[in-house]
This record gives sequence, structure tokens and C-alpha cells, in this order.
Amino acid sequence: MARHLITSALPYINGVKHLGNLIGSQLPADLFARYMRARGHEVLFLCATDEHGTPAEIAAAKAGQSVQDYCAEMHEVQSKLADGFRLSFDHYGRSSSPQNHKLTQHFAGVLAERGLITEVEENMMYSPVDGRYLPDRYIEGTCPNCGYHDARGDQCDDCGKLLDPVDLIDPRSTISGSTELEMRATKHLFLRQSAMKDKLDAWIDSKSDWPVLTTSIAKKWLHDGDGLQDRGITRDLDWGVAVQKGDDAWPGMEGKVFYVWFDAPIEYIACSQEWVEAGKGNDWERWWRTDKGADDVTYTQFMGKDNVPFHTLSFPSTILGSEEPWKLVDYIKSFNYLNYDGGQFSTSRGRGVFMNQALDILPADYWRWWLLSHAPESSDSEFTWENFQGSVNKDLADVLGNFASRVTKFCRSKFSEAVPEGGVQGERETQLIADLTAGLKEYEGHMEAIEVRKAAAALRALWVLGNEYLQEVAPWSTFKTDPEQAAMQIRLALNMIRLYAIISAPFIPDASADLLKSMRSEDDTWPTDIAAALATMPEGHAFDVPDVTFRKITDAEREEWQEQFAGQS
Ligand code: 2FM
Ligand code: ZN
Repeated sequence: MARHLITSALPYINGVKHLGNLIGSQLPADLFARYMRARGHEVLFLCATDEHGTPAEIAAAKAGQSVQDYCAEMHEVQSKLADGFRLSFDHYGRSSSPQNHKLTQHFAGVLAERGLITEVEENMMYSPVDGRYLPDRYIEGTCPNCGYHDARGDQCDDCGKLLDPVDLIDPRSTISGSTELEMRATKHLFLRQSAMKDKLDAWIDSKSDWPVLTTSIAKKWLHDGDGLQDRGITRDLDWGVAVQKGDDAWPGMEGKVFYVWFDAPIEYIACSQEWVEAGKGNDWERWWRTDKGADDVTYTQFMGKDNVPFHTLSFPSTILGSEEPWKLVDYIKSFNYLNYDGGQFSTSRGRGVFMNQALDILPADYWRWWLLSHAPESSDSEFTWENFQGSVNKDLADVLGNFASRVTKFCRSKFSEAVPEGGVQGERETQLIADLTAGLKEYEGHMEAIEVRKAAAALRALWVLGNEYLQEVAPWSTFKTDPEQAAMQIRLALNMIRLYAIISAPFIPDASADLLKSMRSEDDTWPTDIAAALATMPEGHAFDVPDVTFRKITDAEREEWQEQFAGQS
């Protein structure tokens, strides 16, 4: 039994996430966590809301709430939606937790001791009208890189370039709209990432098995242009982790907080402390401290490609720079973007399907299956309603659902609601067992390698094997001449329903649980020997005909939803 620490990128607190966000980190992380648990490994799967920074402050102001109340409320909303999608976090924490405040201040103190933090006098945008400095998203203007008019102070949403507010052309305050901005000198802390460059380079070089998407982004940041830049890790904001060296004040830094991207990844660790505090675990150090047993842990992170620089360079600079025995990530699985019906998902224009809306119209498994089987791994992928309808109706309803329904209903009508007796397996069954064995091996290989789309295809191929068998041996015909033989075929097929329930659970946990319940089987042990697994439910074992496992999406629904989620252009 191995130990797997798994984290998903922490969703920003400001609002409900769309399906593109979900497939970019949380959902594939859940798939992997469920698979690893099913294989008997010890798993700690963590996620949290990312609550600091200007997005939270701005969203709270818009909602007319204090930022504390806003974050507490939105954390509950996101947590419920995570449950709705069956995201099986061992703990869903909050980056604003006291644990994260303390640990962030600890890291800052240690990094300062190691000479990796410098104090820099900077000219920052100050707005006399607003009476404050305007970091990050408090400023908008024209992108110097692509000319986009509404680029934010920290990043251009159009070309993706990371920006500094001073780079913007014609900057304006997003609070008051004022353009009378002035530069004022103020002191900030910088993390000397550049001093870590060689270490980071060597570390990334040692990860030859990482996805190309991950390493190519990391390498680009390490080597392009001026190479790895030192990064400002403090901001003039009220909301965030107060700048301190451990428990001590940091002279000159009064009233400032750490930059959200400094404290957010530290929450991966702090979240495990919250998990202990919540009484769900009793030892976080054995997951995170290599001097306390975490050397045995395999740590896998999931994230969208825009998060890769922070996880391959910034956070590792914090960890490595501390020279303390913290667990470093072993594998970073990153994703491209999911687009929506010929364009991008857009929160401001209400374009695309958001997590709450998705669950309002269909159960989680429908979405999980489509999203995972179309995960944007090798390139961006696109959600279209036609494709969604096709995938649900064919894969889930016709292939898996129909198999379960046909087999159980036939058995009930010709035998009883119990596994029928009689008959002897022949060559065709030997072949089926061999095919299922090979197919399962392939599926497991893809799951272990976190090749999400390939794993989905391999799983579907296993469902197809059952359908092909049924089609070929046609128990409904066999029954007329040789009911014993038909009994054997149906016995095997009923056991296949149970097998499918178990191996499909990481993708479609609710449907799998329902099928297993219908088979009245409590044993959900992962099959290691297909022949034995297909003999688990013996002759006479009672079952129930399941309710419709997956229903089809009608053309009328597809059209209605297409219109409903198109957004305003
Ligand atoms: O891009 C995002 O949604 C960020 N909130 C991800 C943070 S991941 C981690 F480092 F906290
Ligand atoms: Zn731009």
C-alpha cells in the first residue's frame, strides 16, 4: 500500500466556478484520488478556497458585504457544490484559516533568514481620490502587449501576459474610475526566485516523466527573456495575511499583507492542519515533513496551465528556499482550457455552464463523464451541446445503462430476481475473460499515468465488451433451446454489472453505487482476477432491477439548454 497526497488547485473564492474550471483541476484530481483509494492506497486529498487578494475584496464590495462574511458564505456555496459533484476531498479548507496565516508568516520569516527576501523601495500606483494604493485588479487599462482595453493590473485576460500595474497604458482605478493616479514610493518584499534558478532548473530536469505541458511552461519561464524574475510578495491591502517574520513584526511592513499567490499554495500544507483540527485526521506531518515519514508519500498536484509557473517555480522556491524538510511535489498534472460552444466561458457575460446550473439540470455523473472523457489534456477542448448529448446518450445510456437494464430485466422475466443456476462456460466466455483482463490492465495503466481521456476510452471499451458478448451469445435466443446455457450467460452478465460498477466508480460514483446496490453487493474490492470477480455473485444471489441508470437527453432539451446558456453577447 502506497501513500498518495493529492491536491487540486484552490479555486478563487469570488463566485461559482464554471465547468472549465472544474475539469482544469478539481475533477481530474478527484478521479485520481478515487482510483487510488479503490486500489487500496492511503490517500489524503485536499482542496480549499483561495480567499485572499483583490478578487475577493472586489467581489465582496460588489456584493455589499464585508470580505469576511462574503468569503465565509462563498466557501459554503463552493463546498456544497463540491459535494454535489462528489468531489471526495478529505478536507475542503480555507486559505484564510489561522493555520495558513501562521504557516505563511513562518515561511516568510525563514526565507528572510536565508537571505531570500529583499526589501525593495518601489513606485506604486496611488489614487488620491480613493485614498489608497491600487494593486493588481484595482487597476485596469490598456495592455501594453496586445492593446486589450480592459487588462487588469496583474494580468491581461486577452493575451494572458502577466503584468505589473505600472505597465498599463491609460490606467484607471476600478474603485472610482479615477485616472488621476500618481506614483508613490513604498517598500515591498521580493522573493529572490532568481537566486533559486539553478536549483529549480535541476529539479525540473529531474522530472522526465512530467507532462510536456507542465515542463514546457516551467522551462519557458526559467529561460525566456531575462529568465526567472524576483517576485513582489506583498501588497497594500487590508485583506490577507499580515506581513510578519514568524510571530514577529516586520518593521516597515505595517499595514501590508502577503500577495495571494504567496500564501495560497502554502494552504496546501495548512489545509492538512485544518484537516487534523477538524478531527478528520491525527497527523499531518507524516504527509508533509520528510523527517516525519513523508519521504514515502507520492505527491501529485492538479491544475490549469495558467497555474503552472506558480507551482513549478514560485511555490518550490518557497519550499526549497526554506531549507526545511518539507515534501516537494512529485508530479504535476496540468490541463489546457475547456472552451464553450465556439468561444470562451465568460463569468461576466454569463456564457457557459456554471457548477450550480449544471447540477440543476442533470445529475453529477452526466457531467463528470463528459468532462473527464473530454479533458483538455493535449490541447484545448470544447464543450458543445451536440457532443454532450451524443456522449451521454451513447456511452452512458446505450452502452452502460442499457447493458444493466437488459440483463436484469431479462433475468427477472425468464428466471427470477436472483442469479440463475446451470450451464457451463465455454470458449466464448474464456475469450471474454481474456479481453476483459487485457482491457482492465490498459485502463489501470492509463489511470496510474493520469491519462484521463485514454482512461475514459479504455473504460468505455470494457463496457462495450459486455455489450458485444451479449449481442453475440444472445441469451434471449439461447433461452428458447437451452435455458441452462442462457442462465450461465446471464449469470456472467450480472456479475459484469457488478464489475462495471466497481471499475467505473472513479468516473461516475453515484451510478456505480446504485448499480452495486441493485446487485446487492457490498464487496467493492477492485478486481485483480477477472474470472474470480465474475464469479463473486453466486447462483441464487438476489438482486434488484435498477432504476434507469442514465436517461437520454432529448433534442428539445439540447436546444433549450443551448439557448439558456449562450449568455449575452
Ligand atoms: O487560478 C486559480 O484559480 C488560483 N486560485 C489557484 C491557486 S492554486 C494554489 F496555489 F493555491
Ligand atoms: Zn494583452
